[in-house]
Amino acid sequence: MTTIAIVYHSGFGHTQLVAEAVQAGAAGVEGVDVRLLTAEEAGNDLDSLADVSGIIFGSPTYMGSVAGEMEMFFDKTSKVWFVQGWKDKLAGGFTNSASLSGDKLSTLQRMATLAAQHGMNWVNVGIPNELTDPNFSGDMTEARNRMGSYLGVMAQSQNAEPGPNNPPKGDVDTAKAYGERFAKAAKRWDAGA
Ligand SMILES: Cc1cc2nc3c(=O)[nH]c(=O)nc-3n(C[C@H](O)[C@H](O)[C@H](O)COP(=O)(O)O)c2cc1C
Repeated sequence: MTTIAIVYHSGFGHTQLVAEAVQAGAAGVEGVDVRLLTAEEAGNDLDSLADVSGIIFGSPTYMGSVAGEMEMFFDKTSKVWFVQGWKDKLAGGFTNSASLSGDKLSTLQRMATLAAQHGMNWVNVGIPNELTDPNFSGDMTEARNRMGSYLGVMAQSQNAEPGPNNPPKGDVDTAKAYGERFAKAAKRWDAGA
């Protein structure tokens, strides 16, 4: 069995829906077990991440970067860094924010830098922006990777209550597909292929 973890923070529930979509996509891959942990839970129990093959970080974009709770978790991982405990695990990330841009790239870059410090191997999105397909004629909010983000998954939610279509279907589908991609990569990684 290959095990991966999703470590996320969500202040108001929007990013949690993205995290659950990533989880659903990964859990659909046979032979992969997925742990969904908040940044607080993971920070208080770093040992729960010792045996996983990969970790996906998820955070809303707050003030142009990861939320403070996520940064706190990142700081706690310095204990693991000292012994290079996560070296050669896989890593990935997703973020969600209110604006179409909202400086989400900065959040994903923060996550990728943390992963690099740990010697982890970053898994990118690998899903083209469906809106760049000249034959795409559907609802723009239903397009996969409508943000055109390749480093990690970007979702955009209205400041209204989180729920069906907030974040929109396209972003939820992208998150699900990313979970599946990451889980398959982890399986191959474990198999040494
Ligand atoms: C403290 C704070 C800072 C924020 N900064 C940004 C920002 O830099 N860019 C942006 O697009 N949205 C920003 N937002 C909006 C959130 O990203 C948005 O509401 C998101 O859906 C919240 O996700 P959550 O419900 O998982 O906490 C900010 C919200 C808060 C509370």
